[in-house]
Amino acid sequence: MDHFDLRDGVMHVEDVALPEIAAAVGTPVYVYSTATMERHVRVFREALAALPQPPLVAFAVKANPNAAVLATLARAGLGADVVSAGELLRAIHAGVSPDRIVFSGVGKTADEMTLALRHGIFQFNLESEPEAEMLSEVATGLGMVAPVAFRINPDVDAGTHAKISTGKSENKFGVAYDRAHAAYTLARNLPGLKVRGVAVHIGSQLTDLGPLEAAFGKIGTLIDSLRRAGHAIEVADLGGGLGVPYDPALPVPPLPAAYGEMVARITAGWNTRLVFEPGRLIVANAGVLLTRVIRVKQGVNEPFVVVDAAMNDLMRPSLYDAWHDIRAVQPHGDRFVANVVGPVCESGDTFAMHRHMDRAAPDDLLAFMTAGAYGATMAGTYNSRPLTPEVMVSGNKWSVVRARQPIEALIAADNLPPWLATETA
Ligand code: LLP
Repeated sequence: MDHFDLRDGVMHVEDVALPEIAAAVGTPVYVYSTATMERHVRVFREALAALPQPPLVAFAVKANPNAAVLATLARAGLGADVVSAGELLRAIHAGVSPDRIVFSGVGKTADEMTLALRHGIFQFNLESEPEAEMLSEVATGLGMVAPVAFRINPDVDAGTHAKISTGKSENKFGVAYDRAHAAYTLARNLPGLKVRGVAVHIGSQLTDLGPLEAAFGKIGTLIDSLRRAGHAIEVADLGGGLGVPYDPALPVPPLPAAYGEMVARITAGWNTRLVFEPGRLIVANAGVLLTRVIRVKQGVNEPFVVVDAAMNDLMRPSLYDAWHDIRAVQPHGDRFVANVVGPVCESGDTFAMHRHMDRAAPDDLLAFMTAGAYGATMAGTYNSRPLTPEVMVSGNKWSVVRARQPIEALIAADNLPPWLATETA
């Protein structure tokens, strides 16, 4: 559920009309709804209320690292799942307490480990034996002890897009299930590590609980056998991945309540503190990308609606063939079939082909729905298009939470080498 509704024929975000934001900030612009995010946190929490121990819900910062988003979620009590020094610092800056931060990712560097240790994070989710060796060296060098889990690759097919599937043995993520015992034994004998957990994350935008249940089942079996081998497993991090509805024509993905019920059933008797790393579920439906139609161009079959947002602003359609609902902010009342494209010089700069949608005319505002996760955060400046601004709404208030990047900032970021600088000076 979200807070994006038509009122008197105009799409509102909570109590703010989108044309008001477009007029003041320009387009394209991301717009986020505070109430939607808060609602999703509440729904996810309620879904896990039956667990014997209160879980740590660590928002996957990669989904949306805007400071205002992180601060909203930190206030709502969430921790953070981070994958870089940048995400770690952004989370702390936004008010997430370090003891609620888990650090994931296959490529943590010694510098990143040092930073995370100094801040006293909750846990490192290690993804390989060499990473355990590096962390051991870093921690002993600092005279500290790092709390660690191994991320286990359960070799389960998540049934999602290949580019966002992470739990098959051929993926780069985690330690192979069969090597888990060897990895835990290695880590137990390394100084500076306190091995105390298991982690798993099999992919994103999962629309079926089956693969998650299969993965968690394997983790339960592993926890048992690790304990029998003398490892004290106190924490189980079950990752993120629950899908959200993008296409109203498709079945709705499992609701958090069904996920929570499955988790409670599978983890009964584990006697571990559970950690969750939801990203998309919390923020996807809380954001839209608002864009204006530049022109409508005739095509061989359908017209091309050329909008002022492009693949550099929202990469999901070109990267994953992702489907985003496209709605008119002030619908004319009729519909047509069109291709929606951006101005970038790539055929892949296409948001939708043969789309049955609200009829769109030049200057109309359109909203790309469900763009709050993996939207602005994945943006780039290809074609020298400055980064898109972000706005947050709360009730009838709204605020620019990231200003539009001025083109001067892009230009100023480059330096000429001395031989060219002198020639042009
Ligand atoms: N935990 C780990 C270790 C992850 O790698 C991810 C996402 C999450 C949690 C959060 O997953 P979520 O709950 O958001 O599904 N850019 C892609 C999605 C990439 C997801 C990467 N990892 C997209 O736009 O679909």
